[in-house]
Amino acid sequence: MSEKMATAKSEKLIAVKGMNDILPPDSARWEWLEDKVRSLMGLYAYRNIRTPMVEPTALFVRGTGETTDIVEKEMYSFEDKLNAESLTLRPENTPGVVRAAIEHNLTYDGGKRLYYMGPMFRHERPQRGRYRQFYQLGAEALGFAGPQVDVELMLLVHHLFANLGLRNVRVELNSLGVSAERRAHRLALITYFEQHLELLDGEALRRLHTNPLRILDTKNPAMQALVQEAPQLLNYLGDASLKHFDTVKTLLTACAVGWTVNPRLVRGLDYYSHTVFEFLTDELGAQGALCGGGRYDGLFEVFGGKPTPAVGWGMGLERVLELIKEQGQIGVAPTPDVYAVIPDASALALALQTLQALRAAGISVQMHAGSAESLGSMKSQFKKADGSGARYALIFGSDELAQNAVTVKALRAGAAAQVRQSLADIAAWAPTLQSPT
Ligand code: HAM
Repeated sequence: MSEKMATAKSEKLIAVKGMNDILPPDSARWEWLEDKVRSLMGLYAYRNIRTPMVEPTALFVRGTGETTDIVEKEMYSFEDKLNAESLTLRPENTPGVVRAAIEHNLTYDGGKRLYYMGPMFRHERPQRGRYRQFYQLGAEALGFAGPQVDVELMLLVHHLFANLGLRNVRVELNSLGVSAERRAHRLALITYFEQHLELLDGEALRRLHTNPLRILDTKNPAMQALVQEAPQLLNYLGDASLKHFDTVKTLLTACAVGWTVNPRLVRGLDYYSHTVFEFLTDELGAQGALCGGGRYDGLFEVFGGKPTPAVGWGMGLERVLELIKEQGQIGVAPTPDVYAVIPDASALALALQTLQALRAAGISVQMHAGSAESLGSMKSQFKKADGSGARYALIFGSDELAQNAVTVKALRAGAAAQVRQSLADIAAWAPTLQSPT
């Protein structure tokens, strides 16, 4: 065991930096969001895909791109010592989905619309909205070449944000054309930047011959004027690429989705072609990208698959939830319908049976759980019942037991007051315990 692994027993074990626990009641907001996502995906006929969280490192090196930030410095890669394989915790899921599609010949009978939700891992500097483990919702449409699917995917995001009540989210678009167009633009970019070498920072100099497109992405204020004047890829697009892009813009407008073209939107991953887009907010500080994506018509071939056009996006769910909070929407914490107060251990069997019958009738129940020695006084049980947020307490006392009954006591205003109910006709009155939704 290495020295690092052999930590003293007294050392406090805490979560890895940049990786968060999601705890109740906050986890209820996640479930609420996930439910909204699932029902919306159904409306657009997107089907769920679940791929492994660990993939061969080469998948991302070849797919995401050797000169991207992700591959150069953000991947959690390790050697599986048992078989000397280099593995990586997925930093994004587009390469994994494409690998799975090729491996299982998923598009043999036509295009497939897929979505996923799950953790991704990037070793970035943690800050608000940027984590080392974060949850991404992604949608990928495989096997569709037409611009209408680019639009469908953006409508899906727009629709989701509307359902979540989000405001002030803007859409930026660009087109990265096809590889011959990008090559011509790349040469022009290199020539342009070579004429201004003295204005380039270290990062830009390093990228000049590996990935000059990414220089356009720079956040360095001193380089803004330079990149503003740099040759624009849009001016290198041929008729077919321009037509694709124009159709995307026209259809978005027809569907009342506002957009602006950002000629410097290049995205940080290597596989894009044609349409790229981002959904952005100014209300989350530096991490304002809620969702980003685009076309990646060449990625199947990079992995040795048949040429298959594809388009998709990824969305950071922490950022979406943060924006919901920022815009003043308070999520409701879930509460049980009923809290079961059980003052006497002799009532336990009957109580447990009754609670099962209530749950089978759709009533959510929180059972009082005392210590190993004692169930606790009525007073302390009622305090817990109150704290649970339940509308009703169900009291399983010895009086009640003798009559095969239970006392239903209202804990909240608006609920019916105290009544004794017979357990013989539980099915008849159980629905009255359900909280109004
Ligand atoms: P991406 O732009 O790298 O694209 O990530 C998509 C979204 O994930 C971002 O817009 C952001 O909301 C969220 N995100 C990224 N990194 C972090 C982080 N460290 N912490 C929190 N949230 C983060 C992709 O990953 C592509 N796979 C998208 C795609 C799918 N393109 C085509 N299909």
